[in-house]
Amino acid sequence: MRITSLQHYHEQYQFSIQQPEQFWSRVAEEFVWNKKWDKVLEWNFEQPDVKWFINGKLNITENCLDRHLDARGDQVAYYWEPNDNDDEPRSYTYRQLYHEVCKVANVMKRKGITKGDRVCLYMPMVPELAIAVLACARIGAVHSVVFAGFSASSLAGRIQDSDCKMVLTTDGAYRGAKEIPIKKVVDEALELCPSVEHVIVLNRTGEAVHMQQGRDTWWHDEIRDVADECPAEQMDSEDLLFILYTSGSTGKPKGVVHTCGGYMVYASYTFQNVFQYREGEVYWCTADIGWITGHSYIVYGPLLCGATSVLFEGVPTFPDAGRFWQVVDKYHVNVFYTAPTAIRALEAAGVDFVKPYKLSSLRVLGSVGEPINVEAWQWYSDNIGKGQCPIVDTWWQTETGGIMISPLADITPTKPGFATLPLPGIQPILVDDKGNEIEGNGVEGNLCIKFPWPGMIRTTYGDHERCRTNYFATYKNLYFTGDGCKRDEDGYYRITGRVDDVINVSGHRIGTAEVESAINMHPDIVESAVVGFPHDIKGQGIYAYVISTKQNDDQELLRKEIIAEVNKFIGPIAKPDKIQIVSGLPKTRSGKIMRRILRKVAEGELSNLGDTSTLLDPAVVDEIVKGRL
Ligand code: WT7
Repeated sequence: MRITSLQHYHEQYQFSIQQPEQFWSRVAEEFVWNKKWDKVLEWNFEQPDVKWFINGKLNITENCLDRHLDARGDQVAYYWEPNDNDDEPRSYTYRQLYHEVCKVANVMKRKGITKGDRVCLYMPMVPELAIAVLACARIGAVHSVVFAGFSASSLAGRIQDSDCKMVLTTDGAYRGAKEIPIKKVVDEALELCPSVEHVIVLNRTGEAVHMQQGRDTWWHDEIRDVADECPAEQMDSEDLLFILYTSGSTGKPKGVVHTCGGYMVYASYTFQNVFQYREGEVYWCTADIGWITGHSYIVYGPLLCGATSVLFEGVPTFPDAGRFWQVVDKYHVNVFYTAPTAIRALEAAGVDFVKPYKLSSLRVLGSVGEPINVEAWQWYSDNIGKGQCPIVDTWWQTETGGIMISPLADITPTKPGFATLPLPGIQPILVDDKGNEIEGNGVEGNLCIKFPWPGMIRTTYGDHERCRTNYFATYKNLYFTGDGCKRDEDGYYRITGRVDDVINVSGHRIGTAEVESAINMHPDIVESAVVGFPHDIKGQGIYAYVISTKQNDDQELLRKEIIAEVNKFIGPIAKPDKIQIVSGLPKTRSGKIMRRILRKVAEGELSNLGDTSTLLDPAVVDEIVKGRL
């Protein structure tokens, strides 16, 4: 159901609020179902228990692939642009993609993978990653994609948490000027993962790797002699489609669970309406499939809508800061979707990198992952969109499955820094810290959602209670996002950032508790506290305060070792930008670290540290302020 004008949006929004079941069943009717649902929705946010399209039967890959074969079998589904622009690009038509997916699905079946088994994908941005995702969905295996920048320890934790039976990976990866030993990381992780029976290795870099007999086989050997047709497993709407791990304010990353029916409907509806994708256009989302943006807006959303996408292996600054614009020019990209951190980095590199390329194909620009500052918004609009392209600032989360608050391209009037209005079906509400609704406009509060939507999280894998306490227990009968938010005089929403102990570094969500436990693995560290601080390019940087047993030793060496611990336990994305060695942390008499003060110091807001009277030892604060980095 495509929205065609602002008035139409308002009508659809009203309809979706007044009659949500009728609204969503109309959207869902556009798909191929093997059996229609009996009931659209059952829900309560108490337990929580949310079910959409109850007893409906489907397979999402029939909607992504089979359904398109007659009309667009020869249309390109993916153009693949390799890391190195001298390397050979590839493309896959819908028909080719369909057969490749079937082949890998058959390989997995032959290895004994059946419906409900978990399969981990730890791969760089090669077409085979999208193929592997779809192959899992084809046979009803639950995919758990782990971003290929995570460490062996992180990978092992994720594989163990969901007892994956199989891992699909590559020998190595190219990332900018670097070559990354992917299989080596897998080998290290698997020493701790007895559940894994099979590993299939795609040859990407050709580097020498260890192949464990009886466990590891080569992708090209496996697909050589399999059939290129594979019947789609019939799935229930509420069968698991995938698990994707994400960081929260406490403990280990949690496995966000999405299910087949609702996720399909929501990913497709939001893709179509936010970007207003038109038949024949070329769409490019620069995210990695390892994050939810890649799941919903590289794999599922675009394929469900029969779109042609660019899949990019590389990074924005390799071989130079003109790479994005060169690729836009090369493929005549019409819709371009990236993160504020990339925009800021390319802005800093200067417009000379933009100038050589023809960007006139661009029609829509998107932003995702973190708040976009007004300056970056303007630069993006002026220099990339040449003042001609709407910017869709899309707010959503791993847990929401798809875009929640965003302009609709060329329909919703935009405003720099604002995600603007909720999509149909989405009922945002701002509450104060006690959970009271903050009504009216020109207000600010904690962002919650008060009614279910089809793409929402169903549970956290293996621990439903964690899902309840994390999202549904803070405020009664509301889904709590963890974000702070303003609603301005026009009713437009502006997300201000996390209000919990999560930091957003370059659009990646990092739990401070996780970084602390990695730092605390260092034998000389007694205690640590991690907070975010404003960073020009990354949005937020990571500031760590640490207490070491060896106060007077070589501080630079200690910092290096701490960074190595973080690399080992999480990965380079969680690297602390600043490490301040302190003799104590500001604590209340009950022993709680006063993070508010640490945050203020890290932010440089020294004049107003707030109430320090409840501190056990106020002198600690003076020392921290003096030693501020
Ligand atoms: C958190 C979710 C959703 C895909 C990528 C990140 C922040 C996301 C925006 C935006 C302001 C945003 C929020 C959110 N965020 N998009 N347009 N404006 N903030 O997914 O890793 O699950 O992180 O990213 O803080 O809660 P994620």
